[in-house]
Amino acid sequence: MLVAGASGVLGGGIARALREAGARVVAAGRDRDRLEGEHVLTFEALDLERCAAVVDEAADHLGGLDVLVVAFGVAAFGPAEEADDVLAEHLLTVNTLAPMAMVRAAVPRMEGSGTVAVLSAILADVPTAGMAAYSASKAGLSAWLTALRLEQRRKGVTVFDVRPPHIETGLADRAIAGQAPPMKAGATADELVGLVVDGIRTGRRELSYDLRAGAFTGR
Ligand SMILES: NC(=O)c1ccc[n+]([C@@H]2O[C@H](COP(=O)([O-])OP(=O)(O)OC[C@H]3O[C@@H](n4cnc5c(N)ncnc54)[C@H](OP(=O)(O)O)[C@@H]3O)[C@@H](O)[C@H]2O)c1
Repeated sequence: MLVAGASGVLGGGIARALREAGARVVAAGRDRDRLEGEHVLTFEALDLERCAAVVDEAADHLGGLDVLVVAFGVAAFGPAEEADDVLAEHLLTVNTLAPMAMVRAAVPRMEGSGTVAVLSAILADVPTAGMAAYSASKAGLSAWLTALRLEQRRKGVTVFDVRPPHIETGLADRAIAGQAPPMKAGATADELVGLVVDGIRTGRRELSYDLRAGAFTGR
């Protein structure tokens, strides 16, 4: 298994939980010193060729690939008209194009049987004022995953789109622009990690969050 974004709170938790469940996990992230595990790989998500290469290196090391978890991303806040091209390009590259590049590299290495689990966000379902470019980056990723799932229906790769609500991981404080508005957490990091690991095990395809009910939904 490969967890990309394993230096993050959610990615790190998912990598640890998968290991505890007995999986061989390659952890990938930007900073080697912040990655745990026997085998670690580094990538910068702004470098799309490296995103694809890191998947191939993990698959070579593992002798194939059964699971890819994509758990990296960045947030940005502020009025839509203030997000210039540089900021929008950064968000769309890290949050949309880089996950797509990794998944595109992973699918052939799964040889018709495997799971790609990708953290998009509730913003794909509920585009939010003050988060226009961030919402667009996650909506684009989620739409791409939906189309890929249709393509893979008879080919065998399970496409799991995880769209969490706000979770206190510090992601908002590490935003590349603007300041986050006050947000109420819909879940804890541990809860989300458990749902993702369980969803990978059971072949889940979507995990979303119903804001009115205050509960996760999915299929
Ligand atoms: N927390 C939430 O409220 C929430 C809600 C919905 C969706 N999500 C999504 O869940 C994912 C994980 O978020 P988190 O809450 O765990 O936040 P986090 O702890 O800040 O993790 C973010 C991860 O993304 C990595 N990253 C950022 N920019 C990168 C780049 N240019 N190249 C390579 N790696 C990069 C970070 O690497 P470094 O450690 O090197 O910085 C870190 O591993 C994100 O996609 C986020 O959008 C989070």
